[in-house]
Amino acid sequence: MIKRKKIAAVGSASALVMFLLGACGGSSLDSPFGIITLSGNPGGGPYNLGEPLKGLSGSDLAAFNDGLINFAKKEVKSDGLGPVFNGESCAQCHFKGAIGGAGNDLQLTRVTRIGGMRAGKYSDLADLGGPVLQARSLKEFDPTYPIPGEVVPPGTQFVSHRITTPLFGAGLIEAISDSTILARTQMRLPDGVAGIANMELNPETNQMEVSRFGWKAQHSSLSVFAGDAYLNEMGITTPLFPNENLPQGHPIPPGADIVADPEDDEDVVKFAAFMRLLAPPSRAPLTVNAKKGEILFSQIGCANCHVPAMTTGVNANPALSQKEVPLYSDLLVHHMGPQLADGIIQGKATGDMFRTAPLWGLSKRIFFMHDGRATSFDGAVFTHGGEAERAKQRFIALKLGERSAMMEFLSSL
Ligand code: HEC
Ligand code: HEC
Repeated sequence: MIKRKKIAAVGSASALVMFLLGACGGSSLDSPFGIITLSGNPGGGPYNLGEPLKGLSGSDLAAFNDGLINFAKKEVKSDGLGPVFNGESCAQCHFKGAIGGAGNDLQLTRVTRIGGMRAGKYSDLADLGGPVLQARSLKEFDPTYPIPGEVVPPGTQFVSHRITTPLFGAGLIEAISDSTILARTQMRLPDGVAGIANMELNPETNQMEVSRFGWKAQHSSLSVFAGDAYLNEMGITTPLFPNENLPQGHPIPPGADIVADPEDDEDVVKFAAFMRLLAPPSRAPLTVNAKKGEILFSQIGCANCHVPAMTTGVNANPALSQKEVPLYSDLLVHHMGPQLADGIIQGKATGDMFRTAPLWGLSKRIFFMHDGRATSFDGAVFTHGGEAERAKQRFIALKLGERSAMMEFLSSL
């Protein structure tokens, strides 16, 4: 059967996470990871980033902690890492503010997606190393290793950079029912806003589902996304994603990939449990000025896409059932105009379509928009076009005081 990883009990789970992150190695990403509280948050009050949801059962809390440890654990060649990869652990990219967060730099935590047209049809260029490039390889640890990291193949038509998204509150997003998301596609909205739901045939349930995760809303569930990420970011195959990415499309030389596929069958479940039970970011209390900004946000049309809140459906887990989710997104994909267009097609999301980025947790981030091109809130708004053009124009026309009220509101998220 597939390998089993045994982790010796080392004091508390948090000491172990620190050990895994700190002691295993040399990379500049092994910096402090903010507050980790593993005991749950049974009372009221805001969450610290990285905490589990309130009101979890003992077994859920155990699954969260176990998932956290595995999410943070660095994999090596004998675990199936590589031949080519972008990160050695999930947390190596998802760590801003706490484990599960966004990326902190553009060098290691921003990935490259490629695509192109062939004979009039879209191709994700799998035979050249697409759809996602893996920039690193096991050569990093062994100079004699025969395969280098992937590069953008010459002549590639579409090259899209994608920054790491934060995962705080991901389980609440997953628990919003398809019908709640689809309802907004039936609404007649001003400014030509007409989002559509991206859909995918979920390979686990074998049903068409509203996909909602990723910059183009390309996956519907956290476990499918985890399997995709395990393969495309780390080169580790699983039952749902059993085939290695071929480095730059070339066959893997004998001995370069020593673990039989699928290389792992249990981690994806653990990653998904961690992400599903990870608490949402908490907001700062609204100042008078931020309250003004919140009203303007709706008045000028931002909230047509950045919907302040949705509610989860009935869920077997009480911590996820019928909860308000203040995510500031409709989870639909919209035409965003030529300036943002990356040409990449993922499901129903065509070249200039992107998922309305959830704005909760915005104040904890440093890079914005799918490729991280903006480093300020107003810089992010200036890139908006397409269905967001009119809202952007109204934003530009705001008086100075109004603009600062909007900024104060966004900073409260
Ligand atoms: C090399 C950096 C990197 C590593 C390692 C990585 N991710 Fe990500 N993650 C990303 C990027 C970039 C995105 C956005 C991708 C996109 O939408 O194109 C993302 C998005 C996600 C999302 C979607 C979240 C949302 O709200 O849209 C999930 C879920 C996720 N990652 C889980 C994981 C898991 C689980 C692992 C470990 C198996 C992992 N990631 C490893 C960079 C990384
Ligand atoms: C038509 C829908 C739509 C409207 C209207 C809209 N946005 Fe957006 N917004 C998006 C999409 C889609 C993205 C992500 C696009 C990308 O990454 O290329 C985004 C991204 C953002 C981001 C960056 C978030 C991140 O995670 O990087 C901010 C900030 C933002 N919007 C603020 C605003 C404000 C303020 C307004 C009103 C002036 C507004 N948006 C109006 C759809 C919209």
